[in-house]
Amino acid sequence: MTNIFFELHKDLPREGPGDEASTLKAFGMMEGLPSNPRILDVGCGPGMQTIDLARHTGANILAVDTHQPFLDELQRRAERAGLAEQIKVQNESMFELKFPENSFDVIWSEGAIYIMGFEAGLKKVHPLLKAGGYVAVTEISWFKPNPPEEVFQFWRKECPDMDSVEGNLLAVERAGYRVVGHFSLPDSSWWDHYFNPLKERIAMLREKYPQDPEALRVLDEQDMEMEFFRKYSDYFGYEFYVVQK
Ligand SMILES: C[S@@+](CC[C@H](N)C(=O)[O-])C[C@H]1O[C@@H](n2cnc3c(N)ncnc32)[C@H](O)[C@@H]1O
Repeated sequence: MTNIFFELHKDLPREGPGDEASTLKAFGMMEGLPSNPRILDVGCGPGMQTIDLARHTGANILAVDTHQPFLDELQRRAERAGLAEQIKVQNESMFELKFPENSFDVIWSEGAIYIMGFEAGLKKVHPLLKAGGYVAVTEISWFKPNPPEEVFQFWRKECPDMDSVEGNLLAVERAGYRVVGHFSLPDSSWWDHYFNPLKERIAMLREKYPQDPEALRVLDEQDMEMEFFRKYSDYFGYEFYVVQK
């Protein structure tokens, strides 16, 4: 991460849209899990969802990310919450997950599977799951066809593989899973733990770097994402997909 990117994202509650109720709703769709399921949280970031899962489900969670400060933050949060026994963090790239086959009951990834590509990521983690195991991921998705040109172009640049919900459901099946269920994250899950804290951070960094064109470019882009969400959240958002091997 560049410095400005790090400063923008450091110590935020989470690194993408999401909320406790949605995390637990997705978990609740998984039937027949053992009482202490083994979960791999891929691209965990600072781990709000990791904490929520550990606290409410009794799961043992291995949380992986490549950004060490996020892992350190999650470790601190787990200790503060008395969940350090249940949550282990590991600096590991999702491209090189070296775990034995059939290791996990559940693979979790909120807002991070896109880094491998939605379908490619689902295929990649398939061997790590036990038979009948589940994957829960959130992925930015088109909710309606024919979005206005400006928002279409923005996401084409930021996330070239972004697909419709229907397109992603087909990708789930091509990757070797059945769809258990899916739902859209509410708008509040973008604002409460993600955009609102980010807005405050942007204002602070604009004061700190008034003459730095690179910093201002990054801040402008982040502002634009929020503005597009405000204007066009009918057209796109995060969809939670729960699927079974
Ligand atoms: C949009 S954030 C989502 C974080 C978290 N799941 C959340 O919802 O707050 C994406 C995360 O993927 C991590 N990441 C980026 N490349 C990665 C890689 N190759 N392997 C593992 N994690 C990666 C980033 O450091 C970041 O924490």
